[in-house]
Amino acid sequence: MVQPDNSRIVVLGTGGTIAGTAARAGDHTGYTAAQLGVAQLLDAIGTLPAALRGRTLVAEQVAQIDSKDMSFALWQQLAARCAHWLADPAVQGLVITHGTDTLEETAYFLQAVLQPCKPVVLTCAMRPATALAPDGPQNLLDAVTVAVDSDAASHGVVAVCAGVVHSARDVRKSHPYRLDAFGSGEAGALGYVEENAVRWVRREPVSIDSHRPISIQKLGKVKQAPRVEIVMNHAGASGVIVDLLVKDGVRGLIAAGTGNGTLHHDLEAALLRAKAAGVKVVRATRCAQGRVLPRPADAFADSNGLSPVKARVALMLELLAVDTR
Ligand code: SIN
Repeated sequence: MVQPDNSRIVVLGTGGTIAGTAARAGDHTGYTAAQLGVAQLLDAIGTLPAALRGRTLVAEQVAQIDSKDMSFALWQQLAARCAHWLADPAVQGLVITHGTDTLEETAYFLQAVLQPCKPVVLTCAMRPATALAPDGPQNLLDAVTVAVDSDAASHGVVAVCAGVVHSARDVRKSHPYRLDAFGSGEAGALGYVEENAVRWVRREPVSIDSHRPISIQKLGKVKQAPRVEIVMNHAGASGVIVDLLVKDGVRGLIAAGTGNGTLHHDLEAALLRAKAAGVKVVRATRCAQGRVLPRPADAFADSNGLSPVKARVALMLELLAVDTR
């Protein structure tokens, strides 16, 4: 039979709990992440052919890590493989299996550097594959359902977990254990996967940046990412860490402020010293919801609503864009 042009869904494996195994089925925390290959994960889903609706699957193992260990080098590699497959006219969309711990950072990074016109769907699991009732197979099936959906492309990179579709910009891990561990905060979910179909509830097209901060070709040649660190405001915060980081050559700092981005005066003084020394400083809030409301006289740029970890990715890419101009 002749396949239609966009006849393939590519699933890229990177590890995580979705590929994790434990010695006992009841063990949901004492397992080892990143043990099973992505092809094995797909083989375990008997209902996959129905979700594919005639498309064929291609599986590729890009990495096998616990996502707490995610690195810039692996992001470079993953972005390159995504770009390779997205350029193939026979590919309709990509699914990426990923650990939950840094999924939101990878999602934001990939959206920024790929700005894809085809679906790129990250998925994950909170329970290892050996659990009595693992959530990975359903999440992977749901992710394939989203990748096949004709409306998915307009949303750019998305994340699917526990039947909920989140945008790369808004997705955030908000619980360390529950199966529905992700939320989109005030923005709300993009959609829901129900009975093998996607119900989109938010229609606005994706907008992270009007241009790519760096081309995939240039990104692949970067030897070392600009160092950007996160410092948090808290009761008793001091500027010691900031001063040490500046001495150590940090290029950018994200200040995860309290409330509306407020900073202990000792930390603020150190950040002002850092700024005077040429370090880029961006202010975010450590609050799980909402954003910093900036005022014209603010000494530091605000993160434009990005969480501290995503603001870190954005600043790193901004510095890279300048370095590689
Ligand atoms: C990881 O992030 O790789 C481990 C934790 C998880 O996937 O839930």
